[in-house]
Amino acid sequence: MPVITCIDDLKRLHKQRTPKMFYDYAESGSYTEQTFRDNTNDFAELRLRQKVAVDMSGRTTESTMVGEKVAMPVALAPVGLTGMQRADGEIKAARAAEKFGVPFTLSTMSICSIEDVAAHTTKPFWFQVYTLKDDDFMRRLFERARAANCSAIVITVDLQILGQRHKDLKNGLSAPPKLTAKSIADMMTKVGWGLEMLQTKRRFFGNIVGHAKGVTDPSSLSSWTAEAFDMSLDWKRIAKFKEMWGGKVILKGVMDAEDARNAMSVGADAIIVSNHGGRQLDGALSSIRALPGIVDAVGDKVEVWMDSGIRSGQDVLKALALGAKGTMIGRSYVYGLGAMGEAGVTKALEVIRKELDTTMALCGERDVKALGRHNLLIPKNFSGDWQ
Ligand code: GLV
Repeated sequence: MPVITCIDDLKRLHKQRTPKMFYDYAESGSYTEQTFRDNTNDFAELRLRQKVAVDMSGRTTESTMVGEKVAMPVALAPVGLTGMQRADGEIKAARAAEKFGVPFTLSTMSICSIEDVAAHTTKPFWFQVYTLKDDDFMRRLFERARAANCSAIVITVDLQILGQRHKDLKNGLSAPPKLTAKSIADMMTKVGWGLEMLQTKRRFFGNIVGHAKGVTDPSSLSSWTAEAFDMSLDWKRIAKFKEMWGGKVILKGVMDAEDARNAMSVGADAIIVSNHGGRQLDGALSSIRALPGIVDAVGDKVEVWMDSGIRSGQDVLKALALGAKGTMIGRSYVYGLGAMGEAGVTKALEVIRKELDTTMALCGERDVKALGRHNLLIPKNFSGDWQ
């Protein structure tokens, strides 16, 4: 059993144990991957303020996200095709999250369906939706999420059109994988993955296949997005989705202060500063650099969270200190899942919590909710002096 001490260890195992097309799907940004790289690199620009001789006993990482108690303010982000990283991946990740006490968000582009995840968990999870043209499909999705007892909807507002990820095209990404000489040769080296996959029936997009009409190739993410996603989306339509759902709404993909104000005015319960893990607009600012401007604009009126680039508890601490009330991790838990299934997701959460807790202590903080800009050394011009 390898000794896992950090998220990078899980990433290495994920790469070894998972077919290339799925590892690459997770580990890609769009186009040149500049924003994908910046998301992680820019965390390193921030430094932490060390404080000594401060009582560090009785620390807590507990907080709330949209009113829900969380063991730490780190939710599992919606990630497409999670059930291809490991058989029944969404169920495994949701179970790890509920045992740990953090929220799990199921992607519409999941392999296990909403009903399936609900049947294999006991606590409410969140459900992510895209903004599609088909109102009937949207209404049915909301009904299914309601029936599954989901406690909030995460609306992805930055993906009406898919940013191109070169590797997905080169690998012929699909779920289930199409059998070509190349994919078969690769899968033959991932025996554990294959044996588990053979034992599950969940190998298709469980929320889409059999539910969405007129999809030419339901195994392909790019054909579904191109055919079904709403090019004419505006804030009025987002407000309509909020009304259709009738419960808590989290808007994911806001990178601009004016958009943040609009998100607030349509009644978002939280907004997520996110560039979709660098998978959409290549050339966008990293999320951690965009965060302070959005916190300054709306942070006193709505919960601002951030995702994209978090690979450690130190990163979580930096985001919280810059004013985020919550964070989401995507790749960090997917590495764990691909590496070791449910136990790997738990490991990823444990690694992050331990790093967060120790770093809090060394910064002289006992309560995660008390973190603030006073804990950071922020380089002048961190958010940039852009024209
Ligand atoms: C889907 O949202 C993706 O980023 O692949």
